[in-house]
Amino acid sequence: MLLPKFFTPLKQEIDEALETYLAQYANASKLSEAMRYSVVLGGKRVRPILTIATAQCFGASIDRAMPAAIAVELIHAYSLIHDDLPAMDDDDLRRGQPTCHKAYNEALAILAGDGLQTLAFQVLSDDKLPHTSRQKINMIQELAIASGPQGMVLGQAIDLESEGAFLGLEALERMHALKTGKLIKAAIMLGAHSAESLVGDAEKAVLSKFADALGLAFQVQDDILDIISDTETLGKTQGADIALNKSTYPSLLGLQGAQQKVDQLFKVCRQALDQLDSCDTGQLLEIAQFVVQRRL
Ligand code: IPE
Ligand code: IPE
Ligand code: MG
Ligand code: MG
Ligand code: MG
Repeated sequence: MLLPKFFTPLKQEIDEALETYLAQYANASKLSEAMRYSVVLGGKRVRPILTIATAQCFGASIDRAMPAAIAVELIHAYSLIHDDLPAMDDDDLRRGQPTCHKAYNEALAILAGDGLQTLAFQVLSDDKLPHTSRQKINMIQELAIASGPQGMVLGQAIDLESEGAFLGLEALERMHALKTGKLIKAAIMLGAHSAESLVGDAEKAVLSKFADALGLAFQVQDDILDIISDTETLGKTQGADIALNKSTYPSLLGLQGAQQKVDQLFKVCRQALDQLDSCDTGQLLEIAQFVVQRRL
């Protein structure tokens, strides 16, 4: 699996920015410590990389896109803390270290998640941002809808309800699109919203097609890796889906069927990017390639 060349320096900038933002809003409390623990120690940073790569397609600088990238990653980190809680997936390992509730305690893990979620919106509404009020509202709205009860949170609720139950293909696709796809799509759309110039409706429609396919592919690959990878590489417990009787693509279509789905979704991603002929979508294509070929 080849990590695209531009990933390493960009990831480093994102990691530094995450440290800076968290330090800026931190205080001497266990809560700040638990929030930092769950954000800065690991993570591929695929979502913030997507935000910045999309913004760059529309001429924005890394600095201009960084607040949106940070906000998306904070929401993602919160979703992982809650996803691992005993009442949800009950996982002990995340990003190669004890999950937040194991390192601290359950109550603090819930609060750290809450804190990261609200901090994301605080970052986007900061007076110091160079964006217009309209752009800020667009970013806040897109992120709220994607992560809230019409997006990730709903997907998570369906995921839990579906443990041990049979989900048909359509219901499974909806659950994946909600729990994972929506936030990945928001990462991309926030990149577009953060550019100086307005991105046109036609371009947004194409981006949206790309984002839907990539978001779904991301979760199907996550389900595949739960079977074919190992705990050390993943930094989270391999086999967790089977242990919890989760509805996944491999459980419904088999490994080969799930792999075919990923390949098919990658084609949709590529076709969508081909339609964005006025911008350089090379980095977005490389990210999509990474997402479908990744082993971690
Ligand atoms: C894991 O996401 C959770 C899913 C939505 C599948 P990532 O695979 O992006 O996790 P990190 O951020 O790299 O740890
Ligand atoms: C996606 O599903 C989780 C979120 C929306 C946070 P998973 O439960 O499969 O994620 P992992 O495998 O624990 O990272
Ligand atoms: Mg889960
Ligand atoms: Mg999980
Ligand atoms: Mg998983």
